[in-house]
Amino acid sequence: MDGNGRWASKRFLPRIAGHKKGVDALRRCVKTCGQRGVGVLTVFAFSSENWNRPADEVSGLMDLFAMALVREVPQLQADGVQLHFVGERSGLSQKVAHGIEQAELATASNSRLILNICFNYGGRWDIIQAASKLAAQGRSITERAMNEVMALAHVADPDLVIRTGAEQRISNFLLWQTAYSEFHFSDKLWPEFDEEALDFAIADFSRRERRFGKTSDQVGGQPDNAIRI
Ligand code: IPE
Ligand code: MG
Repeated sequence: MDGNGRWASKRFLPRIAGHKKGVDALRRCVKTCGQRGVGVLTVFAFSSENWNRPADEVSGLMDLFAMALVREVPQLQADGVQLHFVGERSGLSQKVAHGIEQAELATASNSRLILNICFNYGGRWDIIQAASKLAAQGRSITERAMNEVMALAHVADPDLVIRTGAEQRISNFLLWQTAYSEFHFSDKLWPEFDEEALDFAIADFSRRERRFGKTSDQVGGQPDNAIRI
């Protein structure tokens, strides 16, 4: 979800105004995903590296996140969304940590859409925590064992990754899980990412031939349309 700051700067607004609009865009995206039959949506809300931003932006983001946690849960609940927070929990404020626990508990039995919110998350952090876990358990580090202990073990690897904000890089997002994901780069800034932009990304995805290392003849040229963004 990239481009909140630029959206605000273009309008001579403080960056936090862009982040607030970003929450609106996420609410809209979750709703559309539910309507389109998307089973899993994973979003990058705050990275391990975002702590290095100016202190007022970091504290503004934390306040906004804590507030959104409380404000959004009833509607998510009504829409059958199961929330998961993915990332390092230690180092978060008591308020944020408590909000996360409550939101996960409240939505645990929903099943229409799984919404993973990566918060204080980094792809390298995840690989390291998973390998450390296996080492501590005295298990060998195999691909299958890693999949069992990665932070997103409860969902399949994403079919489609969308990056907004006209940047074309992964920025320490799902490094392990995106081995065979399709990528879509949108020029839209995240607050502007609407239903049309999501449908455009899904249409782009549906035209891809996914070969997973095989040849085109082997896979029969049939696009696989199951989507976990
Ligand atoms: C993404 O928007 C939101 C977070 C990282 C929290 P940015 O804040 O990165 O927006 P730009 O890239 O400065 O426009
Ligand atoms: Mg950015």
